[in-house]
Amino acid sequence: MKPSSDSRSAAVSPAWWKEAAFYQIYPRSFADSDGDGIGDIPGITGKLDYLKSLGIDALWLSPIYASPKADNGYDISDYLALDPEYGTFADFDALSAGLRQRGLRLILDQVLNHTSDQHPWFIESRSSRAHPKRDWYLWVDAIGFTADGLPIPPNNWKAAFEGSTWTWDALTGQFYLNLFSPQQPDLNWKNPEVRTVLYDVLRTWAARGADGFRLDVINMIAKAEGYPDAPRPEGNTDALLPLNCLSCNQPPIHDYLREMYREVFAGTDLYAVGETWCMGPENTLDFTSYESEQLHGAFYFYFHWAPTGPEQWENFYKLYQVCQGRSWLTVTLGNHDSRRSLSKFGEPVHHRYASASLLATWLLTLPATPFLFQGEELGLTDISFDSIEDYRDIQTVNRYHTALAAGNTAEAALASVQEDSRDNARTPLPWNDDAGRAGFTTGQPWIPLADAHRPQHAAGQVADSSSVFHAYAALLALRKRVKSLVYGDLTPLAEPSQVIAYRRGAWQGHPAVCVVLNWCSESQAWPAAVPMPQAAPLFANYTAFDSSGLRPWEALVFYESSGADG
Ligand code: GLC
Repeated sequence: MKPSSDSRSAAVSPAWWKEAAFYQIYPRSFADSDGDGIGDIPGITGKLDYLKSLGIDALWLSPIYASPKADNGYDISDYLALDPEYGTFADFDALSAGLRQRGLRLILDQVLNHTSDQHPWFIESRSSRAHPKRDWYLWVDAIGFTADGLPIPPNNWKAAFEGSTWTWDALTGQFYLNLFSPQQPDLNWKNPEVRTVLYDVLRTWAARGADGFRLDVINMIAKAEGYPDAPRPEGNTDALLPLNCLSCNQPPIHDYLREMYREVFAGTDLYAVGETWCMGPENTLDFTSYESEQLHGAFYFYFHWAPTGPEQWENFYKLYQVCQGRSWLTVTLGNHDSRRSLSKFGEPVHHRYASASLLATWLLTLPATPFLFQGEELGLTDISFDSIEDYRDIQTVNRYHTALAAGNTAEAALASVQEDSRDNARTPLPWNDDAGRAGFTTGQPWIPLADAHRPQHAAGQVADSSSVFHAYAALLALRKRVKSLVYGDLTPLAEPSQVIAYRRGAWQGHPAVCVVLNWCSESQAWPAAVPMPQAAPLFANYTAFDSSGLRPWEALVFYESSGADG
């Protein structure tokens, strides 16, 4: 759908991507069909009935393209080829066909900020200063040399995966920029040839069956002009400093995105959702307002720094107040780069079901497109490996080595990376009670299965109507049936405390709905300002309603008026 230029009508105009609930698959860890220990495309196709029964509407696949996998596919060496570990084009077409048969859609992850250093474009670019593709990447001279003859990079920027963002290339005697790792050189978006070829990539995948794209670190494609030093906090003497957003939201980012929109998305039904860092409510609107025609959605990662319910509410509501009627929001509690949401926000030890289903209620009753991450529907929790040998994530492993180099013991270095390791979200899904590989593979998994996940296997939860899986399924079905949960406006019903209560307004014949969440492990009084359910709730995570108060992690969704009927 091409957004209307009248933002008020666009606000209420339905679109598939406003109503859809997305489910993110990290293909390597989802399901393996051929016993090599690595999840693959046929593995996903084999689980489509499971996904359909869960009730999601669309998949987001993390990258499946040819890649040396320094960063598990976020380092692409051929945008138009599938990685043989994941399958063939016949496998991809079979997945697409299986999705269509079930009325499900597919968005693909595209990494347009950087390629792999093994991409032929980069190999050509680094081959000589005179090569026509030299300018496809960001090359700079050393600003001088140390007494030992070592080249000095242009600034103090620290890469996301440790070390400098500048890698010296001895062959041609210049540095190239890599915001992530040296295996992920940044593309030069100033070069129109680069932009043209990337838009072609998107169009090619759309022609092959993609319904849209999740655009990796898309607000980093324009870099701060002149590469200024990152500001040094007082007293800090580190040689390298985090970029502090010098790599995000830099002009002419909006020009690039508008051009991409015109070239790829305008006049189509394709959905564009950006992974965007350094965002607040105002710039979320800058990127996503209907009339600006850049992105349809942008991830605003407040979940990384807002672990409590009241903080979650405050962040979402601020965003909503700025964007309401002018753009459409997304909501997510976790992804392949974060901790497991149940460990971060819930209480998996004493209130596993209640807290997991409260989080599901929050995710699925907001005026925003929800993104679930694989395993969330099973209530999976963070993992903790005893040895660095078991970790695979480039960021975790590099941080561990930085900690060792700083003089920490191996034990302390391991402890410093465990809690936030991206591998928390990347271990294989447990599909059944098989004591060996839990149905994920018949071979040796590429990363160990977490033993703590085994009892939460999918087959058991599907068979148990009181499982976390069924809470997600019930809420997903409710969101599909009661459209006020998608389009109705959002109003707080009480001053947010540990109890969060809000109302979703009526929408086109769908009645207003109230949501009450007791986001903590203590019982709470029912907030005086909030109406009580007059009839059986639409969703409840305790069996019988108790008007005397809210139990730990209690979540309720109910029609505001007793006469309302779905
Ligand atoms: C994004 C991806 C992450 C990847 C990084 C570099 O943040 O989500 O997994 O490592 O970009 O592409």
